[in-house]
Amino acid sequence: MSNILENANINPRKIAMVGCGFVGSTSVYAIMQSGIASEIVLIDADQNRAEGEAMDISHAIPFSTTQHIYAGDYRDIKDAALVIVTAGAAQKPGESRLDLVNKNVGIFKSIIPQIRDSGFGGILMIVSNPVDILTYVAWKISGFSKERVIGSGTVLDSARLKYMLGEHLDVDARNVHAYVIGEHGDSEIVAWSSADVSGVNVNQFCEIRGHFQHESSMKKIADDVKNSAYEIIEKKHATYYGVASAVRRIAEVILKDEKSILPVSSLMEGEYGISDIYLSMPAVVTSSGVETKVHIDLSYEELTNLQNSANTLKEILGKLDL
Ligand code: NAD
Ligand code: LAC
Repeated sequence: MSNILENANINPRKIAMVGCGFVGSTSVYAIMQSGIASEIVLIDADQNRAEGEAMDISHAIPFSTTQHIYAGDYRDIKDAALVIVTAGAAQKPGESRLDLVNKNVGIFKSIIPQIRDSGFGGILMIVSNPVDILTYVAWKISGFSKERVIGSGTVLDSARLKYMLGEHLDVDARNVHAYVIGEHGDSEIVAWSSADVSGVNVNQFCEIRGHFQHESSMKKIADDVKNSAYEIIEKKHATYYGVASAVRRIAEVILKDEKSILPVSSLMEGEYGISDIYLSMPAVVTSSGVETKVHIDLSYEELTNLQNSANTLKEILGKLDL
């Protein structure tokens, strides 16, 4: 696959953030600290918000590396390598991600044509919720190739899983290899069958660390991962540090062409018997977006749950007027 960021009209170190609320601004802050971008443009319906965030974040540049961070508009994104969309309504306590669908599809019908019509030729990453539905909507409206449109998917949920397993086993979370797949939301699935700690099957590793109640522990950890956003939103009304780090990581993989395997939301084309929907499964991510899907082994129960997750999302997509 040719590297689309090698196009002469693209600045391979330029990122645009559409939506500069909690998630957008925290993600720009995380990206600024990593030093991976030379230029970051902030766009928001609330121009003052974009300007204020750009000024505030720019004042931290002397503690990072030289880069240009400013508020702009859609004319500024033509040569961006990556456009990230975090604009839209967020959950209120008690609301699910899927409850946001009508409002945010409406917002996407205004945002995505402006991104398309700017002449933008890079990768489009969706973060707004419900992320899998909105990534599909963005792909459809933009007319971009499927590889160029990805959702942040379950990269955040997988980080939550690694963190919680690391705590449970008292081991470095970076040595835990485990994925949450499917919807970023209530029907998400922990792929326990493929989980390991440095090559040792997760159940075997639990026993090494003195844990023997596999079934109850696995259920508790999966429930805690799934419910953690609800708990945080109940306590502080929004989640943003975890997701900002996930966004920063995905941006880094794309800008640096790292070919890392991440569970981003990508178009399903028959994988696990699922098609014409965006869902998360591990995939090789490059400067050109999603390159190769990585089929991990699933148990019968995991596969059935994944297919049910897809059906739930398909039902919602079927009701949208796109
Ligand atoms: P927020 O309300 O703080 O920010 C939303 C921003 O979008 C606001 O600044 C608003 O002005 C802007 N906006 C609204 N309509 C716009 C438009 N048409 N054009 C440009 N900007 C527009 O919300 P938040 O907490 O930052 O959450 C943003 C989204 O991210 C929500 O949908 C939330 O559910 C989602 N989210 C996703 C994940 C994930 O892992 N995918 C994690 C956390 C939050
Ligand atoms: C999360 C958001 C709310 O933190 O999707 O999972």
